[in-house]
Amino acid sequence: MNAIVVHAYGGPEVLSFETVPVRQPGPGEVLVANKAVGVNYIDTYFRSGVYKAPQLPFVLGNEAAGEIEAVGEGVDEFVPGDRVAYTHTLGAYAERTVVPAKSVVKLPGSIGFETAAGSLLKGLTAEYLLHRTFKVEPGHTILIHAAAGGVGLILTQWAKLIGATVIGTAGSPEKVELARANGADHVIDYTKEDFVARVREITEGRGVDVVYDGVGKATFPASLDTLRPLGLFVSFGNASGVIEAFDILLLSQKGSLYATRPTLNVYTAHRETLLEQAENLFGVIGGGKVNIAVNARFPLREAADAHRALASRKTTGATVLLP
Ligand SMILES: NC(=O)c1ccc[n+]([C@@H]2O[C@H](COP(=O)([O-])OP(=O)(O)OC[C@H]3O[C@@H](n4cnc5c(N)ncnc54)[C@H](OP(=O)(O)O)[C@@H]3O)[C@@H](O)[C@H]2O)c1
Repeated sequence: MNAIVVHAYGGPEVLSFETVPVRQPGPGEVLVANKAVGVNYIDTYFRSGVYKAPQLPFVLGNEAAGEIEAVGEGVDEFVPGDRVAYTHTLGAYAERTVVPAKSVVKLPGSIGFETAAGSLLKGLTAEYLLHRTFKVEPGHTILIHAAAGGVGLILTQWAKLIGATVIGTAGSPEKVELARANGADHVIDYTKEDFVARVREITEGRGVDVVYDGVGKATFPASLDTLRPLGLFVSFGNASGVIEAFDILLLSQKGSLYATRPTLNVYTAHRETLLEQAENLFGVIGGGKVNIAVNARFPLREAADAHRALASRKTTGATVLLP
């Protein structure tokens, strides 16, 4: 089969389209024929070496949707032909992937492969950020950075559905419009405006209850200044680079703040929780409450171009690869 292999960490040019052997699923595993593969910012961290793979070379990719082709010993939840999606650390940029059955969820009939590949990883992330890391409720005012991005558009729509007031940031006038069209109450172009001053103005000096920051280095420590006393700083990604070590006294000086650095894998570690999260996600998508914008598609062999687009801030919403 064909797959995107990384032999050495580096820029998009290290993504190599190659023929590799197909492995049969072992005990507790399933073989999925991928129909659409999600492109996520985390893929760029594994490609560049910001996050290390267990070994080199490796097949990139953390999410896909497709059909079960074979099941290993002891798997009774799935049969060949089932329509499924999964998030799993590495291996998804391929025509087929062997994954643990516990990482796989069945797709409702209303959800197509591209929608699933464009929404499972990003949407499960939005689910835990809004419902578990901080329980967003009507009356809360929240700040979402990169609100026109993959995770950002889902967070924005879902937070509005809950009833929060949403302030978003975005990096161009088109992205500002997109975030607004997806429900954000206020959107700040943080490449032109001081987002701290604007948030203070919008909240009449109070600050937001929680800031969801997947941008990282470029918005730190400024994000802390957007929070109300005892507010929560959620650092969930490093699109602009990793935040450097900082003095914890900063949290005290800026209003007895809370800070967390969550990851999806920890939130989905228990099967029952994963299934509950997926049900919540597919419920809001299937019910037409959260729209999944798959705004770019690339053939699998052009994965490097997809990475160039994502890293140069050209994409909005979700991007998928088609094997
Ligand atoms: N912790 C978790 O569980 C988890 C799970 C999924 C995703 N994430 C994180 O969530 C974030 C969003 O992921 P995504 O896949 O949906 O990506 P994305 O938001 O579609 O793309 C990243 C966006 O970040 C913004 N950005 C700001 N500065 C940037 C820079 N210097 N270089 C590149 N982009 C920059 C850009 O939007 P603007 O042009 O509007 O600024 C860009 O479009 C990432 O940090 C990712 O690692 C975390």
